[in-house]
Amino acid sequence: MTVGCTQAIEAILTVLARPGANILLPRPGYPYYDARAKHSHLEIRYFDLLPDKGWEVDLKSVEDLADESTVAMVIINPGNPCGSVYSYQHLKKVAETARKLGIMVIVDEVYGHLAFGDTPFVPMGVFGSIAPVLTLGSISKRWIVPGWRLGWLVTNDPNGFLKGTGVLESLKGFLDISPDPVTFIQGAVAHILEKTNDDFFSKIICILRENADICYEKIQEIPCITLPKKPEAGMFVMVKLNLSLLEGIKDDMEFCLKLAKEESVIVLPGIVVGMKNWLRITFAVEPSSLEDGLGRIKAFYERHAK
Ligand SMILES: Cc1ncc(COP(=O)(O)O)c(C=O)c1O
Repeated sequence: MTVGCTQAIEAILTVLARPGANILLPRPGYPYYDARAKHSHLEIRYFDLLPDKGWEVDLKSVEDLADESTVAMVIINPGNPCGSVYSYQHLKKVAETARKLGIMVIVDEVYGHLAFGDTPFVPMGVFGSIAPVLTLGSISKRWIVPGWRLGWLVTNDPNGFLKGTGVLESLKGFLDISPDPVTFIQGAVAHILEKTNDDFFSKIICILRENADICYEKIQEIPCITLPKKPEAGMFVMVKLNLSLLEGIKDDMEFCLKLAKEESVIVLPGIVVGMKNWLRITFAVEPSSLEDGLGRIKAFYERHAK
């Protein structure tokens, strides 16, 4: 058990760091991985997620980037920031690539089960017999209690690939000298996991699906942004910014700053998650606020259109 998924990320990236080692991270991704890897002097190599292929991993670039000092690859499924869900077949290919390269897969499933599209969520641990899989998760998203700070780190390694590497011992050592999740949440967790009503999950999925539909429809009405794929999970979507349609806005950062100032709408510049001139929009808000926000982005576009 860890203090949210955040501490699970901290634990594994600290444990894997050694002089000369590198780790493969997705682009776009979740910036805490970058910060944590840099903090531990772990070299970062980015592989691309492909917008035209439902944000699947570019497995060819994974193979090209890896060498004998590569310790792991990270995938986030369902995806932050892309709202994607990987199919069973794609996850299997990820595991096979990791096996070929002799590395482990760290899978961040903090948005696990928050899938509302056509592709069902498949836990990566299913492929633990192909390559060792370390699953990271927490109660922050599915149970919507981000402040309760309880997460986990699970090894899926039925063939014992990790035995003798020292990774498991080091993880245990790291957690032994780190703070634990507060005891009353530890006490409640069995109840939370076993007794949460199905209704609770269905309501959340319903709201997220409705919001994803709103995003999809409203974004079509804003010519300067395009959505490569309707989100199928999670709380975020990536849209491409077409600056050639705008007057006096030079990049995604300037777009976001002016949008915040003029319309009080906050979206994240793509550069923050590794994609210049894209935007990350979160739809984890009330449907009416989402419609209002997207309406304001449209008004902003109309004022700044060439
Ligand atoms: C992909 C991803 N991983 C990890 C986290 C951190 O989760 P937690 O709040 O459980 O620490 C987040 C939170 O936004 C996230 O989006």
